[in-house]
Amino acid sequence: MSAPIKVVVHGALGKVGREVVSAACQDPGLEPVGAVDARASADALPLPVGTGSIPLSRDLEAILKKTSPGVIVDFTVAEASLEMIRVAAKHKVNLVIGTTGFSPQNLEEIDRLARENGVGAVLASNFALGAVMMIHLARIAARYFDNVEIIELHHDQKLDAPSGTAVSTARAIAEVRGRAFVYPRVQKETVAGARGAEMQGVALHSVRLPGLMAHQEVVFGTSGQTLTIRHDTINRECYMPGVVTAVKKVVELKGLTVGLDRLLGLE
Ligand SMILES: NC(=O)c1ccc[n+]([C@@H]2O[C@H](COP(=O)([O-])OP(=O)(O)OC[C@H]3O[C@@H](n4cnc5c(N)ncnc54)[C@H](O)[C@@H]3O)[C@@H](O)[C@H]2O)c1
Repeated sequence: MSAPIKVVVHGALGKVGREVVSAACQDPGLEPVGAVDARASADALPLPVGTGSIPLSRDLEAILKKTSPGVIVDFTVAEASLEMIRVAAKHKVNLVIGTTGFSPQNLEEIDRLARENGVGAVLASNFALGAVMMIHLARIAARYFDNVEIIELHHDQKLDAPSGTAVSTARAIAEVRGRAFVYPRVQKETVAGARGAEMQGVALHSVRLPGLMAHQEVVFGTSGQTLTIRHDTINRECYMPGVVTAVKKVVELKGLTVGLDRLLGLE
């Protein structure tokens, strides 16, 4: 059996970063070796399973020199992530990036940095495997239905609407169809917004409630039938199978891969 992949977690004290540290402890193919976070106030991070601790610092370069990781996993904010990528790529560390909010120019830079330094980078805006499957299945169904509505449901603290996943889904299914879906307009909308937002004929509805995490239904309709594809997450562990898969695959890649589809054999 080959040696476990050494992993540094950037944003290790964040909500998702903590889950990544935990997942890296649980998978025998991965070994957490270091943690970086702007909020670090100690020099060691205790591991959740009680098997010791790993070095923790605000200083990325110091952690990279100390631990020589194969992969760095990043869940922070876009500016911090870009700074990290510029440094880590020079250290020939492969990159798994979950942070959202990059511009197309940022993606070009990440690809260039990865290629110039001979490393792989995987960036996905949703690491939940079920969400990847939902979009894949919706793309298959999109060819056979003229009408579709997306209902995304999230916790009440979510800042934006509609969700990035809902927008990605609408774009993906409209691309397959090649033209706008049929968006039935009502003659009179007695309460403004009742028919939701519209993107390329896809109606988008956003539900915000305490008690929810992240959920989405893609509902297709045609004569006498509907088809609903639904994905539910119940906690942030949902991202970990996707993150672990990306860590194991990224070491074989060069340059930037966006999304998990190719890694999962879906394209
Ligand atoms: N791709 C996905 O599937 C997915 C899923 C959930 C969240 N996200 C994204 O992941 C990111 C983090 O989400 P979260 O909920 O864990 O946020 P969070 O605020 O709980 O954690 C972010 C962490 O990054 C740290 N950080 C910020 N700036 C830093 C810097 N310059 N250097 C080092 N560490 C720094 C913060 O101290 C914090 O601990 C967000 O961009 C979010 O949109 C992506």
